Amino acid sequence: MPDPVPDPTLPARVRIHEVGPRDGLQNESALVPVEVKAEFVTRLAAAGLRTVEATSFVHPKWVPQLADAEQLMPELAGLPALHPGLRLPVLVPNERGLDRALAHHASDIAVFASATETFARRNLNRSADEAMAMFRPVVERAGAAGVPVRGYLSMCFGDPWEGPVSPAQVVRHGLQLLEMGCSELSLGDTIGVATPGQVTGLLAAFVRAGVPVDRLAVHFHDTYGQALANTLAALRGGVTVVDASAGGLGGCPYAKSATGNLATEDLVWMLHGLGIDTGVDLAALVATSGWMARQLGRPSQSRTVRALLGPSG
Ligand code: HMG
Ligand code: MG
Repeated sequence: MPDPVPDPTLPARVRIHEVGPRDGLQNESALVPVEVKAEFVTRLAAAGLRTVEATSFVHPKWVPQLADAEQLMPELAGLPALHPGLRLPVLVPNERGLDRALAHHASDIAVFASATETFARRNLNRSADEAMAMFRPVVERAGAAGVPVRGYLSMCFGDPWEGPVSPAQVVRHGLQLLEMGCSELSLGDTIGVATPGQVTGLLAAFVRAGVPVDRLAVHFHDTYGQALANTLAALRGGVTVVDASAGGLGGCPYAKSATGNLATEDLVWMLHGLGIDTGVDLAALVATSGWMARQLGRPSQSRTVRALLGPSG
C-alpha cells in the first residue's frame, strides 16, 4: 500500500471491534459448521484483532445460525492465552442468555437495545422500555461477576418502518444503557442509511448530554456505501472504537434492508493509510476473509479483499 500520510487531527490508535463471527454469520442463510466458526475466530485473533465478537446467546429459534454457541465457546477457550489482551464478547438479550454465557466463561457481553419501537418489537419481542427493563438485571449481574457489558443501540440514524430517527430519541435511549452500567455504547446504523453530517451531529448531541466520547463506538452497515465516510466523520469527532466485519459479512435477520457491515479490511486500509495503528496484519486478515468466502461459496464483499485477491476473492 502507499506510504501512510498521517492526519494530526485523528487518533493515533483505533481499536477495531470485529463482529464478523456474530453479526456476519447470524445473517447467513446456510448454517456454518461450528469448526469453521472456530477457525474463523482463531484466524481473526491471529491476524491481530483483539476484540472479536464470537457469537450470541439469544433464543436458538430466533437466530438458528448461532444456536451452536455452547459448542463454539469451548473451542475458543484457549485463545486468550495465545493472544494476550484478546476479548471475545458475546451477545446476551436476557438473564437466560446471561446464565448461558457465564456458564461458558464469557469474558465480555453485549446487550442490544433499539432507538425505535418497531425494531424493539421485531428484534426482541418487547417495547423499547420493556427491553431496557429486560437488560437491567443482566447488566447488574454481569457487573457483579466482573464481566464488562457493551450496550448496542440500533436504528440510530433511520428505521425501515419508522423513517428518520431524531438525535434526541437516540440520546435518550443511549443514556439509559450507559446509566444502567454499560461501559461502552455502540451506535448502530443498522440499515446503513447514515451520511457523515448525521454522524457528526449525533456525536455532538451525546457530548452535549455529558457523555465522554471515549465511551462511544460506531457500528456502520454499508447498504448505501457510506460506512467508511461515516467512520472518518466519527474519528474526527473523537471516536476511537470502530465496529467492522471481516469480508463485509453481516446484517440483521429482523431488520428489513440491513446489509453487510463495514468491511474490516477496507477500514484497516484507510486507517493504515492515515498512519493510524490498529495492531492488525492486513495480509493475514485478507487471507482469512478469502478463506471464509470460499467456505460460504461466494466472493467477499470487501473491496480491499477483492483488490488484493482478485474478483473471486
Ligand atoms: P421471547 O419469545 O419473547 O422469549 O423472545 P421469552 O422471554 O418469552 O421466553 C420464551 C422461551 O424462550 C422460554 O422458554 C425461555 O427460557 C426461552 P420456555 O420457558 O418457554 O421453555 N429463552 C431462551 N432460550 C435460550 N436462550 C435465551 C432465551 N431467552 C428466552 N437467551 C428474545 C425474546 C429476546 C429471547 C428473542 O427475541 C431473541 O432471542 N432475540 C434475539 C434477536 C437477535 O439476536 N437479533 C440479532 C442481533 S441484534 C443486531 O444484529 C443489531 C446489532 O448488530 C447492532 C446494529 O446493527 O444496529 C447488534
Ligand atoms: Mg449490526
